[in-house]
Amino acid sequence: MRNQFLDQGKKINVGELMTDSLWDSFLPKNFQTLSPFQWTPISVVERTWKYLQTDMPESIVDLGSGVGKFCIYLSLLSKSTISITGVEDRKDLVLVSESLKERWNTPKVEFQNINFLKQFPYGHSHYYCFNPLYETMKGIHSIDTQKEKSANQFLKDLQTLKQNLLLLKPKTKLITFHGFGGNYLPGFRVIIKEEISGGEYLVWERE
Ligand SMILES: C[S@@+](CC[C@H](N)C(=O)[O-])C[C@H]1O[C@@H](n2cnc3c(N)ncnc32)[C@H](O)[C@@H]1O
Repeated sequence: MRNQFLDQGKKINVGELMTDSLWDSFLPKNFQTLSPFQWTPISVVERTWKYLQTDMPESIVDLGSGVGKFCIYLSLLSKSTISITGVEDRKDLVLVSESLKERWNTPKVEFQNINFLKQFPYGHSHYYCFNPLYETMKGIHSIDTQKEKSANQFLKDLQTLKQNLLLLKPKTKLITFHGFGGNYLPGFRVIIKEEISGGEYLVWERE
């Protein structure tokens, strides 16, 4: 599985504008199809990099990193100046991410195959998520059939996530695209609220 993308012979020209279709063209076909529904748009990563330049992170974690699009493109934008970790509970997505990490040469990105509800990655200054819990509620555009769809499970997971986030240190930031699952996050205040690529983009600060 590793390095499968390195054999494709695709080349990016220096200075070429990054687009979703260019990025996604390096993914296996089934993951390309899912991209508009599951992977962060390029414009959202670019907005995040603009924000981070005003509030430089010690390190940032993507909670549910998918195929690594957010982490790897953010690392390219930052020219590897920040430590970026992607945590993802689907092993096949972690393998794709590792392969793309080599393809894009982003050594400051690390991927971990963990469930953040069971092993929350504490100790970072910034967190990002693109609605990772919603899949237990959703009927269409699922990544696979591994996870049970259950409103009850969704509510339990949301409660666990909120409890974990409440344990973060004051001033820690949480950046959400299409939300984290709920509307109100105890212990946090919203410092940025925008609409990007048809989704709500928020930056929350731990009080
Ligand atoms: C909407 S996708 C976003 C992927 C990536 N953050 C991006 O923006 O391109 C949500 C991801 O969260 C992952 N995920 C959901 N629940 C998780 C959990 N408890 N632990 C780790 N990963 C999880 C899913 O497998 C999926 O890859």
